[in-house]
Amino acid sequence: MGKALDGVRILDMTHVQSGPTCTQLLAWFGADVIKVERPGVGDISRSQLRDIPDVDSLYFTMLNHNKRSIALNTKGERGKEIFTALIRKCDVLAENFAPGALDRMGFTWDRIQEINPRMIYASVKGFGPGPYVDCKVYENVAQCTGGAASTTGFDDGPPLVTSAQIGDSGTGLNLALGIVTALFQRERTGRGQRVTCAMQDGVLNLCRVKVRDQQRLKHGPLKEFPQYPNGKFGDAVPRAGNSSGGGQPGWVVKCAPGGPDDYAYVIIQPQGWEPLMKVIGREDLVDHPDWRTPADRLPKLDQCFAMVEEWTKTKTKFEVMEILNPLNVPCGPILSIKDLVEEPSLRQTGTVVEVDHPTRGSYLTVGNPIKLSDSPSEVKRSPLLGEHTDEILKEVIGYSDEEIAAAHEQGAV
Ligand SMILES: CC(C)(COP(=O)(O)OP(=O)(O)OC[C@H]1O[C@@H](n2cnc3c(N)ncnc32)[C@H](O)[C@@H]1OP(=O)(O)O)[C@@H](O)C(=O)NCCC(=O)NCCS
Repeated sequence: MGKALDGVRILDMTHVQSGPTCTQLLAWFGADVIKVERPGVGDISRSQLRDIPDVDSLYFTMLNHNKRSIALNTKGERGKEIFTALIRKCDVLAENFAPGALDRMGFTWDRIQEINPRMIYASVKGFGPGPYVDCKVYENVAQCTGGAASTTGFDDGPPLVTSAQIGDSGTGLNLALGIVTALFQRERTGRGQRVTCAMQDGVLNLCRVKVRDQQRLKHGPLKEFPQYPNGKFGDAVPRAGNSSGGGQPGWVVKCAPGGPDDYAYVIIQPQGWEPLMKVIGREDLVDHPDWRTPADRLPKLDQCFAMVEEWTKTKTKFEVMEILNPLNVPCGPILSIKDLVEEPSLRQTGTVVEVDHPTRGSYLTVGNPIKLSDSPSEVKRSPLLGEHTDEILKEVIGYSDEEIAAAHEQGAV
């Protein structure tokens, strides 16, 4: 079966997590992704957090499926010639180096357009234009500078980062959408364009509800926050623990038998109050004048969830889910990563996939979270460093065997 992005060729200068997330997604949709890596070194993540000596790390293998690898020194003269030839043959150039790295190699946006006016040049950077534009950025820096850390955690504790990689993988998803959108526009105009995504922007975009709350704060306390009614609000949105970011109150409650992940999240919608009170044995509160309406309950949400917890502590998180869902009470067990990778339904949908690798053996990875009915994703192992160098020189830019040998001799590849 054909794939959605068949015929699209991506010159992939990405490394670590944010850029590779983007190009992996495009590769799953069928693009031919040519990963350009420094000879002998490769993407730095090949050797980071290694679990097996001298074998590509899981960090690398899990972000670079379905790609080809060419080891190419883009700083030497011969390497630059090859890179220029690749720019001519590709539709997209993606990168996430520190600001200015490609310019320093001589590949400015002006130069890239000269070489190939149809080229879409897509970059992830830490920040957009402004005081921090030249800074290097990693995931947690983006979380801290994008509003997530100041609003995550409990009121009496320090700012917290979240383990969901919203700065890196989140921005990679934005970049992928930018690229596909630019390809779509190119269909009409015939011209490429520049696509830029700042990690700070990406994180702030995901913190939109907190920008909402910042403005609400001018008009009074945030009544769904655990600080209400007894705590104090300052002039910035505080950390709200596990309270829901939406309009319906929610909290994490303990479940049996009391292990580190034996918790469930329970939400109290107005229509869920009656069935929830009945199931926990507090039918007396269903029509009680102090508890009946959402407004009655707002100042005592802590007591509401304490009562719910008295009941959930007697059930497992899965029993809570089984009992509350049919009553239309939104809730979710806190699933550990172990629970998730062992879940058969996620294996069946290709969300969790087992992949075989020539030097590592088999390992688990997270497959494409976006399912297209006419373009199913097949997860193929990541390339070894430079595995496709000769093949790419030959097939993509038409080098002869002699030219390939010369490129090797000159240390370009
Ligand atoms: C992630 C980051 C902090 C890593 O920084 P770093 O390890 O110091 O690496 P850099 O990006 O500075 O670049 C590596 C160098 O390798 C060079 N290089 C990369 N590929 C090369 C190749 N194939 N041939 C020759 N040189 C190459 C680059 O030109 C650069 O050299 P320069 O500093 O002389 O310009 C930085 O790249 C960054 O801020 N990226 C943008 C934001 C981002 O995506 N962050 C999240 C990463 S998950």
